[in-house]
Amino acid sequence: MNPSPLLRVQDMGKRFGGFVVLDGIDFEVYPGERLGLIGPNGSGKSTTVNCLSGVLSHDTGQIRFDGQLLDGLKPHQRAYAGLARSFQIPRPFARLSVLKNIKVPMMFAAEQRSGQRLRETALDDQARQALQQVGLLAKADLLAGSLTQIDLRKLELARAIAAQPKLLIADESMAGLATSETDEILALLFQLNSQGIAVIMIEHIMRAVSAFSQRLVVLAAGKKIADGPTQEVLRDPLVERIYLGD
Ligand SMILES: Nc1ncnc2c1ncn2[C@@H]1O[C@H](COP(=O)(O)OP(=O)(O)OP(=O)(O)O)[C@@H](O)[C@H]1O
Ligand SMILES: [Mg+2]
Repeated sequence: MNPSPLLRVQDMGKRFGGFVVLDGIDFEVYPGERLGLIGPNGSGKSTTVNCLSGVLSHDTGQIRFDGQLLDGLKPHQRAYAGLARSFQIPRPFARLSVLKNIKVPMMFAAEQRSGQRLRETALDDQARQALQQVGLLAKADLLAGSLTQIDLRKLELARAIAAQPKLLIADESMAGLATSETDEILALLFQLNSQGIAVIMIEHIMRAVSAFSQRLVVLAAGKKIADGPTQEVLRDPLVERIYLGD
């Protein structure tokens, strides 16, 4: 028997002016699952993440997460419900320490939520734990602006998981990295998943996507064109023609 889905997206649509970016998107993510979300540039992957995380509001459809309807909720409310995302282009506070980069958004989220500040020690512990999880604890006191590209990606993931999410959506965490660095992020995402976090990996690096994903959802021009076990989807002639063939 299948468990109930952690995330259920039904008929999600989004337009920018007259331009339909997402059209009738349906998919599910199960607790602890590793899902790959792929598709050509501009197919709507980041817009999907933005609608799920509340950065954008979707125009049609419903988003259910962990038994709760997310429609209309603000990003920090969705984060509190357990939905975390990393941004495709990390924008850290370059002049703050690595540790502060985790603590500032956590503080903001706690204040938005309850109007109260988190106790400093609790905040510090939680932020350090997130840094430890991504292997950045030794660099906690460095300025974020001095980090290398891969460490910036790790910082972005640490920020996302600091609130101990049930689902992490990683939007191109490997883009622009060398192969050995890609493997490091891949191992990190596997490790977070083994701690019970469901992960949606958005990625163009097919070697990483196919190694990681138990299931793939494929978008093309704002529509879902495939959804199923990774190897089956990769053999799908339509997916080959539209995405893999180039
Ligand atoms: N704020 C916006 N206003 C208008 N159009 C937008 C906006 N954001 C994205 N778009 C358009 O929506 C489409 C989908 O963009 P999106 O960023 O979701 O694609 P993507 O699948 O994440 O692509 P990539 O693989 O390049 O990251 C693109 O045509 C893009 O130009
Ligand atoms: Mg994108």
